[in-house]
Amino acid sequence: MKHIDVKEIISSTEYVGREVTVCGWVRTSRNSKSVAFVELNDGTSLKNVQVVVEKGDGDYKEPRVGMSLKVVGTAVEGRNNTVEINAVPDGITVLGDCPTDYPLQKKGHTLEFMRGMPHLRSRTNTFNAVWRVRSVLAAAIHRYFQEHNYVYINTPLITGSDCEGAGEMFQVTTNGYTTQFKSEEEYYENDFFGRRAGLSVSGQLEGEMAATAMGKIYTFGPSFRAENSNTPKHLAEFWHVEPEVAFAELDDVIEIAEDMLKYVIGQLLELCPSEIAFFDAHFEKGLKARLEELISHDFGRVTYTDAIELLKKSGEDFVYPVEWGCDLQTEHERYIAEKVFKKAVFVTDYPKEIKSFYMKQNPDGKTVAAVDLLVPGVGEIIGGSEREADYDKLIAAMNERGMNLELYSDYLDLRKYGTVPHGGFGLGFERLIMYTTGMANIRDVILYPRTVGSIR
Ligand code: 4AD
Repeated sequence: MKHIDVKEIISSTEYVGREVTVCGWVRTSRNSKSVAFVELNDGTSLKNVQVVVEKGDGDYKEPRVGMSLKVVGTAVEGRNNTVEINAVPDGITVLGDCPTDYPLQKKGHTLEFMRGMPHLRSRTNTFNAVWRVRSVLAAAIHRYFQEHNYVYINTPLITGSDCEGAGEMFQVTTNGYTTQFKSEEEYYENDFFGRRAGLSVSGQLEGEMAATAMGKIYTFGPSFRAENSNTPKHLAEFWHVEPEVAFAELDDVIEIAEDMLKYVIGQLLELCPSEIAFFDAHFEKGLKARLEELISHDFGRVTYTDAIELLKKSGEDFVYPVEWGCDLQTEHERYIAEKVFKKAVFVTDYPKEIKSFYMKQNPDGKTVAAVDLLVPGVGEIIGGSEREADYDKLIAAMNERGMNLELYSDYLDLRKYGTVPHGGFGLGFERLIMYTTGMANIRDVILYPRTVGSIR
């Protein structure tokens, strides 16, 4: 169907004076004696185009909110430097009717209410803006890595080894309920892959294999976590950006994370000014200034050990008690980012017991070269580390955790054949979107959220 995007029509005077065809859904409609005004939105822009209908003697039936229309008319300069379309009733074709039970007939629904209609909520300004931010950020992430000599790789989603070792994998099976197998081993031997398989929680292990050949790689795909965490920042299926770099130590990993984030947020400010202004007005006052501030200053940096001291001295009444060795909870992460540093902050060198087997062991024998990036409002958005490149130390760490080394033989080979210092990180894409839009619930930044107890 030949037509022009609303975004193109309203953003320049190029079409003024010409006959144009636009398509879209009716956002509002006002009718007076001789003229009618219809606000049409086709999703290409937050802004609508106004269609001014000279009713004349034509047969004008006022369109209802939600109807889809095709309008042929003349682009003209409207008030306040806008471009609008003059049309007559004959120039308007109803493509799809929309009865009065259309749930978005009325404005002002809560986000929670709209979660109940993921198929329609995208037609609101809020979700229009979120999806555009998502798209622009995704493109900027690719651009950043492509411009810095990284190779984009796609790691498997079905895997036989658990990357994070936290037992949070969804199982992949074609075996239905049966009592025919006598043991767990027999059950898995008879399953599709002949052994236990699951949905990958991270592409890192395979990413390391590619990085120790290509030097610099990144992945950008879904990861799956069967965590029983019903929180505003956990999804069972989230999008994960995972760069992995050879010939790199922890400081290099931190530098890449900061540089990449500053680039993509800078791009967002440049390419989505209307969306950022929208979120600033409706969801987080001062959002734009906060993002501008972020990209123009160095991120903070603190060791886990010092962060624990800061938390202990804070005088705050945390729900989860703070002791060296404890995992930082969201309340702790937010305190550090929001109250102490008041900006994004890297926390490094965590106790080895609370981190994964693959992280490089520090000379103190107690901590590993891990890093998390904490940001105000959300908490952790990045988790990464320098990897243990020493074959014997890696095996020792895996044995300490009682891991089955056979499952990781490929991974161990990398330390046998030309091992190199290397590292990388994982950025939770939805958490980045939360941070850059001020949306407080992760369910509102992904088209169809998958969370514990909920799928559609
Ligand atoms: O800290 P995580 O678990 O690290 C890894 O998976 C490493 N293998 C990454 C690497 O070094 N390549 O996860 C990384 C990030 C977190 O900081 C968070 O932003 C996001 O992934 N994330 C989630 N996002 C939404 N829902 C969940 N359930 C998430 N779990 C992790």
